[in-house]
Amino acid sequence: MDAEELAARWRERLESWAIPDEILAQAPVDPWSHSPERFGTRTDRALSEPDEGPTMTRLSEALPEKGILLDVGSGTGAASLPLHERIGHLHAVDASSSMLEGLTVRADKLGVPVTTIVGRWPDVAHQVPVADVAIAAHVVYNVPDLAGFLRALDGHTQGRVVLELPHRHPMSWMTPLWQHFHGVDRPVRPIAEDCVALAAALGFAVRVEEREAPLERFTSLADLAASVCRRVCLDPARAEEVAETVLELGMWPVPRDRWVTVWWD
Ligand SMILES: C[S@@+](CC[C@H](N)C(=O)[O-])C[C@H]1O[C@@H](n2cnc3c(N)ncnc32)[C@H](O)[C@@H]1O
Repeated sequence: MDAEELAARWRERLESWAIPDEILAQAPVDPWSHSPERFGTRTDRALSEPDEGPTMTRLSEALPEKGILLDVGSGTGAASLPLHERIGHLHAVDASSSMLEGLTVRADKLGVPVTTIVGRWPDVAHQVPVADVAIAAHVVYNVPDLAGFLRALDGHTQGRVVLELPHRHPMSWMTPLWQHFHGVDRPVRPIAEDCVALAAALGFAVRVEEREAPLERFTSLADLAASVCRRVCLDPARAEEVAETVLELGMWPVPRDRWVTVWWD
C-alpha cells in the first residue's frame, strides 16, 4: 500500500472512534479534552524520576549540546523538559494555551529558554524555525492528517524526529466500560504499526522500539473514576458507580500500556 492509501486508512480508522451523537450530546464536558493538571503531574514526575527509556535516549543522543528542540503537542513538557540541561532553546507547540502556560512555568524554573506557539500542527509550522531534533509524544492518535503532520515535522528538523505513542489507542482500555454504560463497542485500529507503516511509506528510515510504559496510568481508583466519567460521557456524580463497575469487571489495577518509540534521522 502506498503512503496515500495508508494515510486515508489512518484517517478512516481514527474517525471510527467518533462518539455517537446521542451520547456526545449528554456529555457534561468535552470527552476528548486533556487536563492540564493531570499532564502537569505527569511532567513533574518525569522531571523528578528521569526515565532512561528509548524516547529520552534517542532524543538525548541526537540533540547537540545547547541545541534547538521542537516539541509538538508538548502538553506541559513531559517529553522535552527532562532534557533541560542540554536544551539551548525549546520551541513548544500545542493546541491548548493552558498546557503551554504549564510548560512555561516549568521551563522558567529550570532556566530553559522557550518559545511557545499556540495552535495545531502543521497549521502553525510556518511560525517555527528548523530545529535540531523534534519530539511528538502521545499526539498522533489526535491527528487525522497524519501524513501532513509527519511531513511537516520532518521538514522542520535537520536532525532526528522522535515519536512516542501507545501501542493501542489511548482509550482502548475503556472498551468494556463503553459496553457496560452505553452498550456500544469501540474500534481497535489504528494501532502503532499503522503509524510506523505510514512513516515508512513516506520515505522515512524509521526505527522502532517498544517497552512497558514507565508510569502507571492512574495512581488511585478515584483518579481513574474521575477520568472515566469525562471520557465515557458520564456525569461526575457517577464516579462511585464507575469505581464499583471497574472492580466488578476486574479492570483494577489497569495494566500498564506498551509504549512505542519511533525515530528517523
Ligand atoms: C496526550 S497530550 C501529550 C502531551 C505531552 N506530549 C506528553 O507526552 O505529556 C496531547 C497534547 O497534544 C496536543 N495536540 C493534539 N493535537 C495537536 C496538534 N495537531 N497540534 C498541536 N497540539 C496538538 C493536545 O492539546 C495535548 O496537549
